[in-house]
Amino acid sequence: ATTPIAATPPMGWNSWNFFAAKVSDADVRAAADALVSSGMRDAGYVYVNIDDGWQGQRDVGGAIHPNARFPDMKALADYVHAKGLKLGIYTSPGSKTCAGYTGSLGHEAQDARTYAAWGVDYLKYDLCSYIEDVMQAQAPHDPDQQMRLMIGAYRTMHDALRAAGRPIVFSLCQYGWDAAWEWAGSPEIGGNLWRTTGDITPEWDRIYAIASQQAGLSSYAGPGHWNDPDMLEVGNGKLTAEENRAHFSWWAMLAAPLLAGNDLAHMPRNVKAVLTNRAVIAIDQDPLGRQATRAYAEGETEVWTRPLQGGALAIAIFNVGSDRHAGTHPFHLDLARLGLHGPQHGTDLWSGHELTLDANMPIALRHHDVLLVRVGKPH
Ligand code: DGJ
Repeated sequence: ATTPIAATPPMGWNSWNFFAAKVSDADVRAAADALVSSGMRDAGYVYVNIDDGWQGQRDVGGAIHPNARFPDMKALADYVHAKGLKLGIYTSPGSKTCAGYTGSLGHEAQDARTYAAWGVDYLKYDLCSYIEDVMQAQAPHDPDQQMRLMIGAYRTMHDALRAAGRPIVFSLCQYGWDAAWEWAGSPEIGGNLWRTTGDITPEWDRIYAIASQQAGLSSYAGPGHWNDPDMLEVGNGKLTAEENRAHFSWWAMLAAPLLAGNDLAHMPRNVKAVLTNRAVIAIDQDPLGRQATRAYAEGETEVWTRPLQGGALAIAIFNVGSDRHAGTHPFHLDLARLGLHGPQHGTDLWSGHELTLDANMPIALRHHDVLLVRVGKPH
């Protein structure tokens, strides 16, 4: 029997958020090295995912070749595998990827075989020019038909991956279109994860907007099939220490794929500390696979809960306020609104301290900070 794919949300690194389309073989090897030296691999990050920008041209037989920045994809896969990691790659069902590189249109089965031969373990399939090449070209005035064509593109690649015969995580990148959560995880499409929104950026407002959009989606997530609120921006842009922590906590609560998107080879210690917090990772990777829901919002505070294996519960309290000089107003947790009765003993997963949550405990959170607590049976 083989281990089921993506039984918990995939964890790893992806090149896009930091390196964009200029990524090189050296960047990917450096990321793989850093996953090991930082302790991230041992904390669960196994996928090393190359995003847009690796593709070259097709040869006369139609086979795709990498561009000059990737001299030998099979050798790169071997390098990654030798470190106990897995390799991910990226393509589009259109003629071109979003960054203008060669897409898979008309070559889906051949490309899937090529990836399998290289030793690829994960494929991100980004809609890009398929919108113009096929959806708008074939059904210019028929949005319903356009969506059927889009779903068809994902089914075609799913079939191609199956035919290629290697277990490959299938990541749908369709920006949340057509309520992906309702169809992407079906057996015919076989999506292990599907984007629920447009792209993330390393800014709190964008991170918060995406998190908010996940509020109604928890029932669609579970082992093997996950909502994907996009890759992590922890350590990117000008995110503060609090924002990095809150972003990571929120993605863990959401049972989101944890794909670091920063420059792992040069990350500061405080960023590494966020990404390798094992107690928070354990929330994300909880075997029940139940995604958090928003219990309630009060003023500038949001309270989310996530049921965990063994009757435990994760509670995340976020200060989402816009005034960067203001902490939360004295906030008191309404345990009854979380379905809890009486004081709750638990652990603050960022400080590591034990605490007892009750209605009298004033909660003061710095701007965009989080209190993440695990209550109930210890894991
Ligand atoms: C759009 C996707 O949403 C991004 O995650 C990234 O893959 C880019 N395309 C690459 O062009």
